[in-house]
Amino acid sequence: TGIAKTGVIGLIEGAKPGPVIMLRFDIDALPIQEETGAEYASQNPGLMHACGHDGHAAIGLTVAKLLHARREEFGGTIKLVFQPAEEGMGGAQTMVKEGAMESPAPLRSLGLHIWNGKPLGWIGIAAGPVMAGASSFKITVRGKGGHGAIPHLSIDPVLASAQIISALQSIVSRNVDAQKAAVVTVASIHSGDAFNVIPAQVEMLGTIRFFEMEVGEMVHRRFNEIVHGIAAAMQCQAEIEISEITPPVINDAATTENVLRAARIVFPAESPDTSPYVTMGSEDFAFFQQKAPGTYFFVGSNNESRGLNFGHHHPKFDFDEEVLVRGSALMAAAALEVLQSA
Ligand code: NI
Repeated sequence: TGIAKTGVIGLIEGAKPGPVIMLRFDIDALPIQEETGAEYASQNPGLMHACGHDGHAAIGLTVAKLLHARREEFGGTIKLVFQPAEEGMGGAQTMVKEGAMESPAPLRSLGLHIWNGKPLGWIGIAAGPVMAGASSFKITVRGKGGHGAIPHLSIDPVLASAQIISALQSIVSRNVDAQKAAVVTVASIHSGDAFNVIPAQVEMLGTIRFFEMEVGEMVHRRFNEIVHGIAAAMQCQAEIEISEITPPVINDAATTENVLRAARIVFPAESPDTSPYVTMGSEDFAFFQQKAPGTYFFVGSNNESRGLNFGHHHPKFDFDEEVLVRGSALMAAAALEVLQSA
């Protein structure tokens, strides 16, 4: 207990020796006032499980119970990782730093998300990139303030910023291969507060998203060149702060085959969706995957007829609890498949 503050790790040792694999379940909530009216709604004002990580915690505990009951039947060790602070707060990175992926070090990793974008019954299991790498940035453009009616005595950071924002959009349209994906978004801009004053500086916030590390590196390099180059051309100075949020989630081909096999055993009448179910959202499971290749998959959880189809991070978000049974069964079976082949 106490790993990355509230993280918990459990080990289940099989009867025979074998590889170590890790299963990750994120457990954190969001700063949103819950409006579901459910009998099990959050009792903490301004905080709710709007992404379904309470469901992940329940699935993790069920998987632990299932696998513990069958520990005489398998070889190897299951490492269950219950992770706090997935929502952009660096939980996975901190757990890795505090030794979550050491002694014993897992060979492979598995993670899942219950997914309200898809109905109960749908399962998404795909190899390759499934969630984007992400970073956030802050740009400060400094000029020289002055009277709005006498611009030649000022250096206008607002005009420079306008050109920087426009030129940043050329990275995706002109530097990224048209068959690959990236996003550059300037989401916030703040400067000045009077109609007749040229301000001294402008601050901008935004995010960069990508799937392939090479694309990500190129986008960040061009980002730097454009911001500094245009600021200099406009007689301003620019300062950039970039924080990495997560690398992309890239699913391992062999582990993905194991999960697909498990899905065919547990749900023989269904066919999982193997077309890459890709989202530009990010997920810090990627930090665990960097230490132990693995697969992150999605289990559909909405039920429109019961009104359980609000999206993740919505104040009315809620899911069909049948997904807890399906997710637990699939994760436990997938863990056994991975143990056998790792
Ligand atoms: Ni989530």
